[in-house]
Amino acid sequence: MESPTILKFTISLSFFCMLLLFASTLNPVFGLKNCNFPAIFNFGDSNSDTGGFSASLITVTPPYGETYFHKPAGRESDGRLMIDFMAKSLGLPYLSAYLDSLGTNFSHGANFATTASTIRLPTNIIPAGGFSPFYLDIQYSQQFVQFKSRSQMIRKNGKFSNNKL
Ligand SMILES: *[C@@H]1O[C@H](CO)[C@@H](O)[C@H](O)[C@H]1NC(C)=O
Repeated sequence: MESPTILKFTISLSFFCMLLLFASTLNPVFGLKNCNFPAIFNFGDSNSDTGGFSASLITVTPPYGETYFHKPAGRESDGRLMIDFMAKSLGLPYLSAYLDSLGTNFSHGANFATTASTIRLPTNIIPAGGFSPFYLDIQYSQQFVQFKSRSQMIRKNGKFSNNKL
């Protein structure tokens, strides 16, 4: 006959296995392999800015970008950012910045992040202060919402044939 300790251990082990089974089949976090993300829409600051700040406020200059992109690439970094690795791991191209009007491609998402962005309304903005005017509410409520409705309208009207959206 099993001792109560072993029995308790067996019961908790089988409970753990059942939990793992449920978690792996029902929980989306464990099922990521089957997910297919067609696009990324990113909000943030310099941690994930792929060119918005550089295109709209202060141009990023060398040595930023020299090692990986071999030229400034709009990032406040010499190499790639976490968002670049995330896009790559999902099989998507690097995100174009929403504020960049040249060479952009929004077919797999858009990046609303700008360097020096705050979450709340900033107290002073560039050039009269240190913060980006594109704080989170602007990035989402103005830029993303407008991007969404305008891109759908443009697509519906078939106005642009350059396949950018
Ligand atoms: C935009 O990017 C997609 C995916 O990389 C590509 O298939 C498409 O041709 C690009 N469009 C333009 C206009 O460059």
